[in-house]
Amino acid sequence: MQVISVWSPKGGVGKTTLTAHLADCLTVQHGKKVIAYDADPQLALFNTYKRGGFAFDVTDSYPSERPNCDFFIVDFRPTANLSSHEKTIIQNSSVVVVPVRASRLDLDSAKAVNNLAPEKRVINVLSCFDKRVSDQKEVRTHLAPEHELISYLAIYARTMNDYKTIFTRDTDNLNGTTRARNEVKTLVTKILEKSNG
Ligand SMILES: Nc1ncnc2c1ncn2[C@@H]1O[C@H](COP(=O)(O)OP(=O)(O)OP(=O)(O)O)[C@@H](O)[C@H]1O
Ligand SMILES: [Mg+2]
Repeated sequence: MQVISVWSPKGGVGKTTLTAHLADCLTVQHGKKVIAYDADPQLALFNTYKRGGFAFDVTDSYPSERPNCDFFIVDFRPTANLSSHEKTIIQNSSVVVVPVRASRLDLDSAKAVNNLAPEKRVINVLSCFDKRVSDQKEVRTHLAPEHELISYLAIYARTMNDYKTIFTRDTDNLNGTTRARNEVKTLVTKILEKSNG
């Protein structure tokens, strides 16, 4: 079993949304058994899961025994002030995914991950990235050229609003699905590379 943490110090950067799409991609596209742990007291992921549209399972409590799955993916609350339990989860993760908005302030605060996990286990992501916005484009070019990209696309939010993900079959023909799927698949390929090595 591999642990994947989705963490960022900032709120509202797309952690929960990304966790759901990543977990569904690993399940639907790669045939992995995935359990997500909603470690945020807001329980947005767990409450969405309860409506039955995800292909993976979500728990709202940390398992007392090693869970029986290929990937255990953790959706963190937004904080730079992690508890020792949260730190231990991150330290035991094969991969730490850090979504961040394309702004220098947000990039700087996300650097706190360097105190938590070695660089080779971290995947930095520009989240909700809109290349039509000039300052975001500049941040991409000058400050974050190596970050993975998850674009600002309505389909990411729209599917979650309907209690499902971009990998749910009946989203096949919706506007933006193909582009969003390709972005998430690229990220999942990186996760699989890192978790194998
Ligand atoms: N790639 C995206 N494109 C467009 N909208 C997005 C994208 N990712 C997330 N959103 C929207 O942004 C908002 C915040 O997303 P989300 O709740 O996933 O962030 P979060 O980091 O988990 O927040 P919190 O820190 O409160 O847990 C939601 O309204 C969501 O629908
Ligand atoms: Mg969240």
